[in-house]
Amino acid sequence: MPTVVIASPKGGAGKSTTAVLLGTELAHAGANVVMLDCDPNQSLTLWADRGPLPDRISVLSSVSESDIVKTIKRHDTDGQIVIVDLEGVASRLVSRAISQADLVITPMRATTLDATIGVRALQLISEEEEALDRRIPHAVVFTMTKAIRSKQHSGIAGSLAEQGVDLINPPLMERAAFSALFEFGGDLHTMPAQGNMKGAIENAAQFAQAVYQRLAGEAGE
Ligand SMILES: Nc1ncnc2c1ncn2[C@@H]1O[C@H](COP(=O)(O)OP(=O)(O)OP(=O)(O)O)[C@@H](O)[C@H]1O
Ligand SMILES: [Mg+2]
Repeated sequence: MPTVVIASPKGGAGKSTTAVLLGTELAHAGANVVMLDCDPNQSLTLWADRGPLPDRISVLSSVSESDIVKTIKRHDTDGQIVIVDLEGVASRLVSRAISQADLVITPMRATTLDATIGVRALQLISEEEEALDRRIPHAVVFTMTKAIRSKQHSGIAGSLAEQGVDLINPPLMERAAFSALFEFGGDLHTMPAQGNMKGAIENAAQFAQAVYQRLAGEAGE
């Protein structure tokens, strides 16, 4: 079963939020999900400790450079979706996780600075592709976007498209409910209402669906 690696060398790009939204929405839709916390800051572990873990989700903490490959291999054989959350750096651990991925997702704020640093993730991916002599599917998702698209956002989206980068639609908007996941734990379906809950759930579910479609497409190759 597929391994999804969430990677960007840019700190605060929205990796852990993306990992939790993807994991909880896929589990809500019926998938079994194993989340690997590979970040020494332990965002996923803190989320898991905050509230009851949703059904069908488990979180493994402190997965390190020396055990990442075998941990992924152990879990991606038995009907589960593995989601890997990484520190905002470029490191051997990040490269090893990417080497095992069926899909790498790079979350990115739609600003010039963030995009400039974020696209370095694409460089790491192409280095792994070269080393392994296989294609590693990858996609970018814009995070913390506003209801009204800025010119910067459109410009960056256009430039990524020109480079042939797969951009996941919908982006993850800036939403109170998304940041509150780390306050309350659990998922969007169980947390106390924060802002426009219906909109937040719809956004997260559509994002998870868009990711799932990519995984399903890849499975047939
Ligand atoms: N879509 C969103 N809506 C609202 N807040 C968000 C959203 N995405 C991320 N945030 C907030 O932005 C901050 C950074 O997000 P997050 O921790 O997910 O990034 P990260 O890339 O995992 O960071 P790090 O590199 O430190 O691991 C957090 O406070 C998080 O709650
Ligand atoms: Mg993080």
